Amino acid sequence: MKPLTIVSVSAEVSPYSKSGGLGDVAAALPKHVAKFGHRVVIVTPFWGFMKRQDIPYKEIGGSDIRIGPDTYHLKFKHSRLRQNLDAYFLCNEEMFGRYQTRMYAHDNDALRFFVFDRGVPLLLKAINLIPDVIHCHDWHTGLIPNILKLELGHDPIAKAATVYTIHNLPFQMQGNWWMVPDDKVDEGRGPLPTTSSQVRWLNFTKRAIMYADAINTVSVRYAEEILTPEFGQGLDRLLRRRQKYVYGIINGIDYAVYNPQFDQHLWHKYDWNSLDRKMKNKRELQKLVGLEHRDDIPIIGLVHRLTEQKGFNLIREVLPVLMQLPLQMVIVGSGDRDYINFFHKMEKRFPKKIGIFTPFTEELGSRVYAGSDMFLMPSRYEPSGISQLISLRYGSIPIVHKTGGLSDTVEDFDPRSGHGTGFVFSRYTREDLLIAIVRALETFKYPQTWEHLTWQAMQESYSWDIPAEKYVQLYRRAILNHKRSQPE
Ligand code: GLC
Repeated sequence: MKPLTIVSVSAEVSPYSKSGGLGDVAAALPKHVAKFGHRVVIVTPFWGFMKRQDIPYKEIGGSDIRIGPDTYHLKFKHSRLRQNLDAYFLCNEEMFGRYQTRMYAHDNDALRFFVFDRGVPLLLKAINLIPDVIHCHDWHTGLIPNILKLELGHDPIAKAATVYTIHNLPFQMQGNWWMVPDDKVDEGRGPLPTTSSQVRWLNFTKRAIMYADAINTVSVRYAEEILTPEFGQGLDRLLRRRQKYVYGIINGIDYAVYNPQFDQHLWHKYDWNSLDRKMKNKRELQKLVGLEHRDDIPIIGLVHRLTEQKGFNLIREVLPVLMQLPLQMVIVGSGDRDYINFFHKMEKRFPKKIGIFTPFTEELGSRVYAGSDMFLMPSRYEPSGISQLISLRYGSIPIVHKTGGLSDTVEDFDPRSGHGTGFVFSRYTREDLLIAIVRALETFKYPQTWEHLTWQAMQESYSWDIPAEKYVQLYRRAILNHKRSQPE
């Protein structure tokens, strides 16, 4: 089959920009798709903090975007990531350039991404590229399928099929979708607004789901969950209506980056054949945090954004009980001030049992994955999740809520058969979380069983190879859907 040309559009792409898993996926997926011989072009905004990075760019012209009386001039820059993989940047000082730290949650988000989405087809025109597929990631890019389908019908660029990937469904627009006044709700059908003030209420995700040729999310389970009112974030009816076009593909991780054999941040590198060296990392971690030096007490690691999504409200509720049990805890992450303050308080009360590091750094993250015996991830919902995949590879046994990608990647351990890679609880309650943790603590008391479980976890493979192949199939499906939707 002929190789494809894909344009992958995302507000963040690691290593240029990253606020979470989206940045990882928007970098790793193109890289792996390109490995199969397809041409992949990355498009992303040029954020203020990127000026400080040491990246060689070439300027390649620009274009004006007019919205009512306002004009926004976009400059285009190019840089090459590797063979088959080009990156293009949309630059505008007011929209992106002046943002030195936080990319999102400003009071002009809608306008900024409206300008970005309008800019993408103009960039493609400027570089003379009509791809087979434009792959849009998350709400920031959600208007692109809309613009192609409803506005550029006769333009050659509209030959491109569109794929929209949902990484996190609650985020659909500027601010919270559930706080939009009734008379401002965007039904998604009308033409795109022509003045800046109307842009504010656009629901980018809704429009993407309506107009993309294929929609997917980042695990099979989450693709089923979002069809229900519980997880559908107000879009479940629309998603059910479009169900024929909704797919699920789990994320992978890059084992060249996340691998205890090569990880430069570790005190001692190791693999499943040298678990004694993992133990040495544990002792170093205990020293670093000031925990009691005990091999026989497990460390539970947490490397997350400290948010409600990641289950921190449940953790906070059970923490007093946990502090009575034979365990230690180390937390690394940035996030909500409330949770951070709470854990700092607990750290003062139980300095030999718990420690928190904030903000997140790669080095601390790696050290906690390597030094901990268990990894706690009781997310309320989890589209895919990456941390549990890293923890598996580092032999830190995941304790997870059975939801989304966690459910697709962690198999509950059955001590009788010896099958499984972690501890999974079904109901999102304190009791079920506690029971899962106690089951892990009990299993930890049997070193041979624990070692067997650790081996099993470390040998799981969630590389990008298989997901990347599935995305190529999804691209071909989108092209087919697109052809069928075209008037003859
Ligand atoms: C979002 C989701 C997470 C997913 C990531 C990348 O951050 O919360 O589950 O792994 O996107 O797809």
